[in-house]
Amino acid sequence: MTEQRGNWTSSAGFILAATGSAIGLGNLWKFPFITWENDGGAFVLVYLVCIAAVGLPIMMAELLIGRRTQKSVVGALKEAVGPAWGIVGLWGVLCGFTLLSYYTVIAGWSLFFFGKTAGWMVGGFPEGTSLGEVFTEQSANGGLQLGLSLAFSIATVSVVYFGVQKGIEKIARLFLPILFAILTLLFVTSFAMSGSGEALAFIFRPSFGELDGGSVLEALGHSFFTLSLGMGAMITYGSYISREQSIVKASAVIVVLDTVIALVATVIMFTVIFTAGMQDQVSETGTVGMLFISLPQLFFAEGIVPGGTFLAPLFYVLVALAALTSTMSLLEVVASFVIDEYGVGRHKATLACGGTVFVFTILAALSFGGASFATNLSVPGPIGDLFFAGKTSWFGMADHFVSNWMLPTGGLAITIAAGWFMTRDASESELVDETTPGWFNYGAWRLFIRFLAPAAIATIIIAVIFFGVDFS
Ligand code: PHE
Repeated sequence: MTEQRGNWTSSAGFILAATGSAIGLGNLWKFPFITWENDGGAFVLVYLVCIAAVGLPIMMAELLIGRRTQKSVVGALKEAVGPAWGIVGLWGVLCGFTLLSYYTVIAGWSLFFFGKTAGWMVGGFPEGTSLGEVFTEQSANGGLQLGLSLAFSIATVSVVYFGVQKGIEKIARLFLPILFAILTLLFVTSFAMSGSGEALAFIFRPSFGELDGGSVLEALGHSFFTLSLGMGAMITYGSYISREQSIVKASAVIVVLDTVIALVATVIMFTVIFTAGMQDQVSETGTVGMLFISLPQLFFAEGIVPGGTFLAPLFYVLVALAALTSTMSLLEVVASFVIDEYGVGRHKATLACGGTVFVFTILAALSFGGASFATNLSVPGPIGDLFFAGKTSWFGMADHFVSNWMLPTGGLAITIAAGWFMTRDASESELVDETTPGWFNYGAWRLFIRFLAPAAIATIIIAVIFFGVDFS
């Protein structure tokens, strides 16, 4: 190691950074849509159980591995569990790399829609505009997509370049409060809309008739994605935590905030959709549609969102901020691995990693018609079917592979490492000390991490292999 490792300056700084990693497009883009697809209610309840029973214990496991070793993911697993476990760390780095390569493209769309809605705020919404067409046109415009994702990648690199304290923590301290403020404003506004009752009932009234095995597994898969688990992001962030901080308390705060934000975002979006009576269109346009096709237009429709013209650009600022605080954690996983393992300086490592990831971002940016080789990229035959579910384009394949394969397998390995290969003393001394809150029970945690969590994740993987369930 050539440079002094940074540390968070305070416990609040760490919690904001980790919460920023967790809150992202998963909360604003994926969760509302899968809740919609699975008819809300019962699905939300199952999701909450997965978060509490699987997500929370694994969050603690990742943070404790990081803090114990003070190393990034590969070094941390090697030291905490044994040299062979470095391979699991490498798998995590590869996952961070792959996820980052396409995440910045979606993040770029938020910049585009910020620009569009800001323009409409000033110049008025052009009558007869089809948002479906606006979306398709912008995503098929290769030059535009490259520009947007490059802008977002540069922003990400610029934060990570300055390190844990002066980059990541500083930006999280600045952006997360803004994000909470915007969300609160939108949430309060949603209660002035006529569709809010219907939206709340859809989200919170369970009807178990609608629930099938696939939905349960989808809820479990999403709990990994949304909490940034399964690839070492939390191991890496955990490696900068000081000894005085309670990992148990921090994990609880991060998990609760991430969950509350996902639910609040869903209430806001569904309220707008129900108020406008746009349920059918949303079902047709899919995940992308809810955030980038249905919503922008509804902000400008008369009599739906009070102050909508002003709130629309703010909403896309929210999406961009949430995405940035996640992309910086993804790049940190990759960069800190290069820094720790190869003794490269932070500046050089960040630029090299950011640049290399961007090569693949080019493929992701051109995946929507921007260039036919990228759009039609595919892996034929049974391998393609098993690992990519026959998906085409770098974007489609990477998203499928990360959500269905990389996060669950990485998560399973980390869980087994913490539950079966680390000694009881090692994990207990990280979790239990004078800072530990009274509600925490180490024996229960150990039971969850040794049996329940691995069993649940193994079920996902089996479901993917044998039943063709798709979590992306
Ligand atoms: N948790 C982020 C989200 O919800 C995604 C993410 C996964 C970020 C893994 C970092 C690591 O969007």
